[in-house]
Amino acid sequence: VKTIAVLTGGGDAPGLNAVIRAVVRSALGRGLAVWGIRNGFGGMVENQMCELTDVSVAGILPRGGTMLGTTNRDNPFNYPVSRNGQVVYENMSGQALANLRQADIQALVVIGGDGTLKIGAEFYQLGLPVVAVPKTIDNDIPGTERTFGFDTAVGVAAEALDRLHTTAESHHRVMVLEVMGRYAGWIALHAGMAGGADCVLIPEIPFNLDSVIAKIKERQERGRQFSLVVIAEGAYPRGGEISVGRIVEGSQEKIRLGGAGEKLAREIERLAGIESRCTVLGHVQRGGTPTAFDRVLSTRYGVAAVDCVLAGAFGNMVALQKNRIIRVPIADIAGKAHNVTADDELLRAGRAIGICFGD
Ligand code: F6P
Repeated sequence: VKTIAVLTGGGDAPGLNAVIRAVVRSALGRGLAVWGIRNGFGGMVENQMCELTDVSVAGILPRGGTMLGTTNRDNPFNYPVSRNGQVVYENMSGQALANLRQADIQALVVIGGDGTLKIGAEFYQLGLPVVAVPKTIDNDIPGTERTFGFDTAVGVAAEALDRLHTTAESHHRVMVLEVMGRYAGWIALHAGMAGGADCVLIPEIPFNLDSVIAKIKERQERGRQFSLVVIAEGAYPRGGEISVGRIVEGSQEKIRLGGAGEKLAREIERLAGIESRCTVLGHVQRGGTPTAFDRVLSTRYGVAAVDCVLAGAFGNMVALQKNRIIRVPIADIAGKAHNVTADDELLRAGRAIGICFGD
């Protein structure tokens, strides 16, 4: 392999630029040329590519977002094209591969979450040498103990809790903080632990509203006139309606940011008789500069991805296990999830210090 390409797919996460920088610097240092594909897999179909140099990646280490641009819409295997004034979906993977061949690109590093991994796995099956780097602030990719971006998101949410703490205490209110996490409660769990939350509600444990109210009242009885509740956007109550934050559009289930937290705050106010406010952190958790941990992890991942290319170890995702970077076959993890389980050590620790998980 003499020339590789790199792309970023799906939602952005702090550390994307640090991975790109590490891929470029370590590849150039080992005699490879590197191309950047703009705007995820869409750019592969549309031939939006440019060669990356040391200068292209100068100064990007601490910057959030991705210098290459990204999108979570474009799938070359089901790609929107305009035919006779109508948008139809076609398999454009052949075009995407032809574009790489034309630029003499022999391997591809994809940096992304589950959607990107699935597409990467399909291209690998078609014979394209692919290496993947796991990205998502949600930390829900299997095979790795950490995705980059997660540490930053948790830090932002924990800082928000610290800030909400003082205003909650002053006003004798319940502050509900809604954090990201459609299907996984890792951000809520870690941020709740770090920020001293009283209740943490996650998608993996359908919550019982009565338990949440009981916790708040029990605190009141002990003279604690305020409470902090963290809810993951995808958390939902046991029984009752299907979900607070989930909405169904056609055949697609989507999460409505702000749905879960706001509704919960109203219910707490009604049932516990204590003034409640909701803060939705939303994309604040995804933007901005990565923490030192994420910069280091991203750099390790970027270098390890180039190591895979040079070793001919294609079809793998680089991953972190027991603080070592390892390789995991993409086929083993694509389409699977990494969720908080009932025996999770952090859940147990949370229970031991009195956090209510709504069960
Ligand atoms: O998967 C990462 C994530 O940040 C989720 O936590 C969140 O539900 C989703 O992306 C938001 O996506 P979008 O950028 O499309 O609003």
